[in-house]
Amino acid sequence: MDDGAFAAAARKARRRLPRLFADYIDGGAHGERTMARNRSSFAQWGVVPRALRDVSTVDLTTRCFNRTWKLPVFLAPVGFAGMFHHHGECGAAHAAGSRGVGMGISTFSIAPMETLAATGVDVMAQIYVLRDRALTRDMLARARACGISGIILTVDTAITPVRERDVRNGFRHLSRPTLWQMASLLNHPAWVAGLMRGGMPVVGNVDAYTTARNVMGQARDIAARIDPTLGWDDLAWLRENWSGTLVVKGVMTPEDALRAADAGVDGLVVSNHGGRQMDPAPATLDVLPGIAAAVGERVDIMLDSGIRRGGDVVTALALGAHAVSIGRPWVWGLAAGGATGVAAAIDTLAQEIRDVMALAGLCDIQSVRAAGRTALWRF
Ligand SMILES: Cc1cc2nc3c(=O)[nH]c(=O)nc-3n(C[C@H](O)[C@H](O)[C@H](O)COP(=O)(O)O)c2cc1C
Repeated sequence: MDDGAFAAAARKARRRLPRLFADYIDGGAHGERTMARNRSSFAQWGVVPRALRDVSTVDLTTRCFNRTWKLPVFLAPVGFAGMFHHHGECGAAHAAGSRGVGMGISTFSIAPMETLAATGVDVMAQIYVLRDRALTRDMLARARACGISGIILTVDTAITPVRERDVRNGFRHLSRPTLWQMASLLNHPAWVAGLMRGGMPVVGNVDAYTTARNVMGQARDIAARIDPTLGWDDLAWLRENWSGTLVVKGVMTPEDALRAADAGVDGLVVSNHGGRQMDPAPATLDVLPGIAAAVGERVDIMLDSGIRRGGDVVTALALGAHAVSIGRPWVWGLAAGGATGVAAAIDTLAQEIRDVMALAGLCDIQSVRAAGRTALWRF
């Protein structure tokens, strides 16, 4: 797979992590065709170089989801990120804050949302609606109480599909490790030592809702309680129960985007979960123009899945996104180098976005969006 600007960090992350965690990050559903398509779709677009325009100042300031960021990049919610490096999600939040970008907190975050909100960084809480609505209500109340002003409802996970790498590695049954799994973990003593600094890890964000006492047991228990009957009425329920920013993540068609806009959401994430859910699904970039045309300026659009280069970001903005999010790239950065690694991932992307915009004669994000397809070349 082409890891783009993050190839070195990805290699380092794979060395530092036990195989089953590296594979958990890298892998996708079924034949991983969606994952591959997410990348190959970007390769079909170029950005057209323009000459003799004053590009002495390139401003990446972005407005999205009622927030202002220093660049059009958001750290996507990623489950168990706190297992990948002892700096954990807090380290990532500090890196995001230092670079002026936002971050999503996964339901399956090792650090609880309260701890992440206390960093002072503008984080958004990603939630799943569980069968027991009282628990979802409690998560909303907790978010409100700790000053989190935006939530992201992920809607592409009604079930968790087979991910062959995880099956091969027995990832979901790690609570009772086999000899091979033990050997794989113990082969990475630095990682084990880092992880054990704070005692045996738990999924801190949902610890109170489960009687399971280890990360995998807790994750299995909560994932099994995600409500597969979730429908549009539930989104209306959520809108009534949450007055802050509400974003729906995992929208892939104009019809669903319009229904979400009608339900009063503030934003959408056009996402196929980085190829981890539906396989084969279309690439997010391929469905973006239709969705952007359908919703117009009614809601903000973020795109994720396969962003690995600055040119990918500029292409997505020109095709209708207000911003993008990255999943694996920041997690590789975290696993490779803790908070510094996450900051480096953001800086890498920022530099490349700046390069591409300057060479395209585009000085701010609004100009990229306004130029639209005129800034692009379809190969
Ligand atoms: C290891 C891993 C765990 C993830 N966990 C979650 C999660 O808990 N909630 C969620 O909404 N998305 C989750 N995602 C999906 C990301 O938020 C995002 O949509 C995806 O990673 C984007 O694709 P990319 O990795 O190619 O950038 C996860 C992704 C990865 C790689």
